Amino acid sequence: MFIDLETERLSLKCIGYDDAEFFYKQFSTDEVNQYLFDVEPCSSVEEAQKWIRFYLESEPRNQHRWIIVLKENGEKIGTCGFHCWNRETGEIEMGYDLQPSYWRKGYTSEALAAIMKFAAEKMKVKKIFAHISVDNIASIRTCEKMGFVKTGKQYYEEMHGKKYLHDIYCADLEGHFGFIACQNRE
Ligand SMILES: CC(C)(COP(=O)(O)OP(=O)(O)OC[C@H]1O[C@@H](n2cnc3c(N)ncnc32)[C@H](O)[C@@H]1OP(=O)(O)O)[C@@H](O)C(=O)NCCC(=O)NCCS
Repeated sequence: MFIDLETERLSLKCIGYDDAEFFYKQFSTDEVNQYLFDVEPCSSVEEAQKWIRFYLESEPRNQHRWIIVLKENGEKIGTCGFHCWNRETGEIEMGYDLQPSYWRKGYTSEALAAIMKFAAEKMKVKKIFAHISVDNIASIRTCEKMGFVKTGKQYYEEMHGKKYLHDIYCADLEGHFGFIACQNRE
C-alpha cells in the first residue's frame, strides 16, 4: 500500500535495500542521534540492512520509512515515516531526521506534509503521535508547525544509565490542527 511520494523540492522514495549505506550514514551521524533515546546509533551497513528488513518484511506491516531525496541533485538527505500503526484505533507514530547540512530549509516540514496527507487519505489514520525529547527544540518546533499539540509526557526506558523525559505530541487528522497543516503545506 505504500508508494513513492513527491513534493515541490523532494522525492520521498520508499526505503529499499539499496539505501543501506545511506541509512548507516544517517544513523551514525552524531547530530542526528543526539536526541534519539530509543535505539543505539547504527554501527554498520549490515545493521542498517537489518533495519531495512524490519521496515519491509516484518508482519503485520505496521511501519514504513521513506528516504528523503533532493530533486535538484538526487542526493539522499534524510528519512521519515511511521511505526506502531494500530489499524483498529487509527493511531500511528511518526519519525523524521535530516542530515545536519540541510537543517532549517523547510525540507522536513515539506516531507511531513506529504506523508501526513498520505496517512490521512490512504491509510485512514486518525491520530499521529510523536515522542520528542523535551530538549529537542528543533523537533518540537517542527511538530508544532505541522499542527501537533502536546498531550502528555513520558519517560523512556533507561538508556546509558538515564531515563529521558519525552513530550508526547499528537496531530488529530480529523480535527482542525493536523488537517489545516497538511493542506496549507501542499
Ligand atoms: C528535527 C529536524 C528533522 C528538523 O528538520 P528541519 O528540516 O530543519 O525542519 P524545518 O526546516 O522543516 O523546520 C520546521 C520548523 O522548525 C523550526 N526549527 C527547526 N530547527 C530549529 C531549531 N534548531 N531551533 C528552533 N526552531 C527550529 C523552523 O524554523 C521551522 O519553523 P518556521 O517555519 O515556523 O520557522 C532536524 O533538526 C533533525 O534531523 N534533527 C535530528 C533528528 C531528530 O531529532 N529527529 C526527531 C526525533 S523526535
